[in-house]
Formats: sequence, C-alpha cells, structure tokens
Amino acid sequence: MALITTISQRKVMQLIKLANLTKKYGSKTAVDHLNLVLAPGSVIGFLGPNGSGKSTTMKMIISLVRPTFGNVVVDGKTYRDFPEPAKRIGTLIDPSALDKNLTAKQHLSILATAANIPPRRIDEMLQITGLDRVQNKKVKTYSLGMKQRLGVATALLGDPDTVILDEPFNGMDVDGIKWLRGLFKQLAKSGKCVVVSSHLMSEIQAVADRVVIIGQGRLLADMTMDEMNRRSLSSYIYIEANDLDKIKRVLLKKQAIVQPSKSGLKVRNLDAKEIGKIALENQIILHELTKVNPSLEDVFTEITDGKADYVAKGVIMHEKFD
Ligand SMILES: Nc1ncnc2c1ncn2[C@@H]1O[C@H](COP(=O)(O)OP(=O)(O)O)[C@@H](O)[C@H]1O
Ligand SMILES: [Mg+2]
Repeated sequence: MALITTISQRKVMQLIKLANLTKKYGSKTAVDHLNLVLAPGSVIGFLGPNGSGKSTTMKMIISLVRPTFGNVVVDGKTYRDFPEPAKRIGTLIDPSALDKNLTAKQHLSILATAANIPPRRIDEMLQITGLDRVQNKKVKTYSLGMKQRLGVATALLGDPDTVILDEPFNGMDVDGIKWLRGLFKQLAKSGKCVVVSSHLMSEIQAVADRVVIIGQGRLLADMTMDEMNRRSLSSYIYIEANDLDKIKRVLLKKQAIVQPSKSGLKVRNLDAKEIGKIALENQIILHELTKVNPSLEDVFTEITDGKADYVAKGVIMHEKFD
C-alpha cells in the first residue's frame, strides 16, 4: 500500500508531556491542571463533551494558545522552539480555516515549500487521502469530509512523529471513517503517536489503544482500552446454558456475582475461561459464553456519577515515562 513508503521507518521516541496545563478565559477555566504523557506507538482517544477543553488543550500543545499556567514540552522543548515544527507534530485543528480559493495541490505545495518538505510528499499525501481526483479543484467546492481529508494530508505532510487531529471524523461518511481508522492504526504501528479528539465515544472505541477523558477541563480518566474494559462496572460475561439454576448455584459458590438477564445470566467476578471450566466440571452445557465490554458512554456515566475512579491508574501509567 502507498502509505507504507510514506511513513518513515526511523525509530520514533518523541515524548510530549503536559504538566499542570491550565487555560483560563476570564473567570472561565477551559483547561484545568491537566497532566498527561503522549507516548509513541499508540492511538490516543481524547474524549469529552463539547466545551470540555479538548481543542484548547490541542492548541496549547502546538503553541497556538498560551497557557495561563503549566506547560507542554516536546522532548524537553516547547513546540515553537523547533526549527521545523511540522516534522515534529502534524495537526488538524480547524478544516474550515483552509483558504477556499486554493486547490488541494496548491495548499499542500505552499505548506511544503514553507516547511522545507520534499515536493514528492505532496502527491503521496493526495493519494493517501484519496484527494488525487480533486487535487485541482478549489477547496470551496469540497464537502466537509473532503476538507477533513485535506486537513489530514496537511497534518501528515512533514512525516511528523506525532499527529494531533481535532474531531477528524466530523462530516466523514462511513467509508471515510473506516479509512481514517485504518490510517490511524497504521501510523501507530509505525511508531507514531496519534491523538484524536472526539465528543462521540463511539467513533474512538474501535480505534484507540488508550483513552483520555476530560470533563470541564479536568482529567477524568486515562487508561488503556483493555484496562478500562477490565475496570468498568459495565463489563460482564453473558451466559446461556441447558440448566441455568444449576450453573447459577455453582457459580455463586465460586464467589461470582450473578444476575438474570434476557434468557441467560450476567456473571461478574469470574472470567470466561473460569466459567467454561466450571460448566464442564459440572456437566452443564453452555449455549453462549460472551464477554461484554462497556461502551465508552457507559464509562463516562460511571465516572460522572462518581461510581468509579479511573484516574489513579493513569497516574501510575505516567510514572513509567518519567
Ligand atoms: N477564545 C476563547 N475565548 C473564550 N472562551 C473560550 C475560547 N476558546 C474556548 N473557550 C471556552 O473554553 C471552553 C473549552 O472550549 P474548547 O476547548 O473549544 O472545548 P472542546 O474542544 O472540548 O469542545 C468552552 O467553555 C469554551 O467556550
Ligand atoms: Mg473542540
């Protein structure tokens, strides 16, 4: 695939650290003492409701907004202190900010010249983003989805170690969403850090390795997807069996928490392997044994209702990188 040739194979080690990052607009605190480490080789979903501070955080990372307090360091430096910042962090912040009278090709050419990027990357980016067919049409004729694609092409132009995209799924059709997810996975696999914000949990669930959730500018959760699935109160194993009463009895003896559900049982406190073994030992035939993971919406509700604390573990994760 074309992308493989355009993703550099050099080892990516770039670390971005946000320390006590805070932004106040008058009496309104948009971002509130945010501590995060953005490490290479993963897709990080940056989630929160509208107005929770996602865009402001992203703008502070690339020095578009000055923090009121705290800072962001990229390998020990501030983003704007790098001589060629587009090769460090590529961004898509606002697709409507593109000059509408330029074509996609002109837009990328101007940026490539300004950032000292070889012109061959322009055609590669047009191809990767599927814009090669419309490269000579003016941006004002583009749909929002096409503008997003041009924004992605812009972000990737400098082959940066970190890619930060603010709500890139907005306006994308189903094919576009699928394509973007595949692209993010490929970028992360090549060692890059991909940070993708969204106010829709469902867009991120299928692609993120790690999720960072903020609310009112504050960190609510920071953990890998696996960890979140394990910790959530909404995770369980659903079973159906030939003798539900019997399996319920034996599972309860093994300290499981068992609840009736549909034509089966919801089981917590035991994993699928243990349940399968217990069924076999008791000569019970299982008709279904399914692991049910929470949706991010479930997790968000758990957090905001104060039912679960997801932040403590995130702090431990940070320490690994210090
Ligand atoms: N330039 C600005 N001036 C005043 N308030 C702002 C400005 N930018 C953002 N805000 C406020 O800061 C909060 C966070 O906004 P934002 O970062 O855009 O959130 P999100 O991207 O999560 O929707 C909101 O309450 C918003 O109204
Ligand atoms: Mg925003």
